Amino acid sequence: MNKQTLTRLKQYKTDGKIFATLTAYDATLARIAEASGVEVLLIGDSLGNVIQGQGSTVPVNMEQMCYHTECVKRGTKNSFLMADMPFMSYASPDQAIANAAALMQSGAHMVKVEGSLWLEESVYLMSERGIPVCVHLGLLPQSVDKQGGYRIQGKDAESAQQIVDNACTLVEAGADIVLLEGVPSTVAKSVTEAVDVPVIGIGAGPHTDSQVLVVHDLLGISQRLPSFSKNYLAEAGSIEGAIALYAEEVKSGKFPGEHYTIA
Ligand code: KIV
Repeated sequence: MNKQTLTRLKQYKTDGKIFATLTAYDATLARIAEASGVEVLLIGDSLGNVIQGQGSTVPVNMEQMCYHTECVKRGTKNSFLMADMPFMSYASPDQAIANAAALMQSGAHMVKVEGSLWLEESVYLMSERGIPVCVHLGLLPQSVDKQGGYRIQGKDAESAQQIVDNACTLVEAGADIVLLEGVPSTVAKSVTEAVDVPVIGIGAGPHTDSQVLVVHDLLGISQRLPSFSKNYLAEAGSIEGAIALYAEEVKSGKFPGEHYTIA
């Protein structure tokens, strides 16, 4: 696989080429994902759930995110690495810059922040200082207590339009990638058409520029398999085969298809 850079990911969007994204938390699975053709690896704070056995991503901290980013970095050569900024590590613009710098120095090529319009100033400041930022909109796992559970967002016309508007404003502020989680496919389609940066979807239907899954879900070994996630290990029979099949189905547009589109 060629070296994956932000420029290349943006070119994929221009060319209408879908790329694959997958979470990774350790060097071994990161190496396998890279060898299987996954372009973007997300060191997700979902490690709180699948590695630490926590009930949510809220307990995850910066030290842990830096540690796992370093692990993934050591397992890869050419993947584009996106690292989650954990709960409350970007509550103010100053915190955002200091903590994003720590993740970049641990090996990330981009940081990801969850939220909405309130992120605008931090996104602008980080981007101005040379830190690529992905904004995660829609269902926000770090806000599970505020959003009243893991609920689909943007179901009515007003909240749907809000998500599209927020994506445009945050891209204008400097965001280089948008990640949409748990929104209707119509909303994801509108965002993907409205912004000129790549949009990655999870539980957001088939119209985005990339798809992401939590690797433990893809392997069918999570405690609760989300309805938008497919058990690729059951089909492929090996970890390497499962990740390669996922990458292939994302790139060909076969996944998520109708069956794994939930709203
Ligand atoms: O932490 C994570 O794995 C994520 C995905 C759910 C997109 O943010």
